[in-house]
Amino acid sequence: AQQYRITLLPGDGIGPEIITVAVQALTVIGKQFDLDFSFQEALIGGSAIDATGSPLPEETLKLCRNSDSVMLAAIGGYKWDSLPRHQRPETGLLGLRAGLGLFANLRPATILPQLVDASTLKREVVEGVDIMVVRELTGGVYFGEPKGVFETESGEQRGVNTMAYRSSEIDRIGKVAFETAQKRGGKLCSVDKANVLEVSQLWRDRITALAADYPEVELSHLYVDNAAMQLVRAPKQFDTIVTGNLFGDILSDAAAMLTGSIGMLPSASLGADGPGVYEPVHGSAPDIAGQDKANPLAQVLSAAMMLRYDLNQPAASDRLEKAVMTVLDQNYRTGDIMSEGMKLVGCQEMSDVLLAALEG
Ligand code: NAD
Ligand code: IPM
Ligand code: MN
Repeated sequence: AQQYRITLLPGDGIGPEIITVAVQALTVIGKQFDLDFSFQEALIGGSAIDATGSPLPEETLKLCRNSDSVMLAAIGGYKWDSLPRHQRPETGLLGLRAGLGLFANLRPATILPQLVDASTLKREVVEGVDIMVVRELTGGVYFGEPKGVFETESGEQRGVNTMAYRSSEIDRIGKVAFETAQKRGGKLCSVDKANVLEVSQLWRDRITALAADYPEVELSHLYVDNAAMQLVRAPKQFDTIVTGNLFGDILSDAAAMLTGSIGMLPSASLGADGPGVYEPVHGSAPDIAGQDKANPLAQVLSAAMMLRYDLNQPAASDRLEKAVMTVLDQNYRTGDIMSEGMKLVGCQEMSDVLLAALEG
């Protein structure tokens, strides 16, 4: 059997509940496709702070680097919200992304036909939506220097972050985006704020220059405010979207709601080489943690992305995605995707029916 070392990062809140479901599903898939997964758990986020004082222990990064792939659930929670920045759970996640060089974050927002009625938008607006958001993940205002809270000469405090991109950073995410668009619908929309920001003007110029290498991809540009509006107004105009770190964070949450719930949206964070990190787009949902209410399907679909991108097992990935379709066809719904006439289940029961669908 093909062997794979997978590092699991359950994190905080609903993280442990949902990652268990994905691990159980992968275990069944492993038997069916003769894949030998060895799972190792490591600490990140709030639970790592509690155990070690650091949101990203050196050991965790080392384990991730030495594995074939990494599956992360979610980090964060009220308990750690008032810690200094370097000790916050979110800083651990950013350190993981930077430490593994994961500059490209692929966030597919596809509406499944079974969930059209779970969307808050009208059927005719969302039916058939299939968007890939390519978010730059290791640069921009999340990482730019200077950053911090500084004392001014008049004795005021001044909070500073810097939105900066080097041309090489724009070019490498641009290439991923053009290649993604090439394999999909052939349309790429680059989102920026070039009417106001210098960093966005450079972004637009570099993306425009790259287009010459991809004559079969149709490139367009939108300002981010208009893009947010267009996503809700007429989302079917989009195929592939490429944008910077902060705009991508915001637009992918908005795109998530086209699909019914953020609990359905997976993602893949990829670097130039080495293992990727596969994580749902949503967070640790502290408001429903420990109540068996979380939708585990974003995590399960993230595992499917891992099978496809890192492990090169497309048939196994298809099988897992098909099992998700089956449970939705059987009308099972967690609260976040519930609609009239459907069967309401918790995380655990969703897991049970998913495993049954996989075995069946
Ligand atoms: P969130 O995504 O955790 O939750 C937003 C809303 O969506 C909540 O009402 C939540 O209950 C719901 N929700 C999210 N995932 C769900 C699921 N799988 N099933 C059902 N409902 C779900 O965002 P937030 O509340 O703004 O942030 C909570 C914490 O998570 C914060 O500490 C934040 O920093 C962190 N966070 C982490 C990640 C990550 O680990 N990648 C991403 C986003 C936010
Ligand atoms: C995400 C999250 C993270 C981000 C936070 C928790 C650091 O919102 O993965 O979308 O902003 O990138
Ligand atoms: Mn986010």
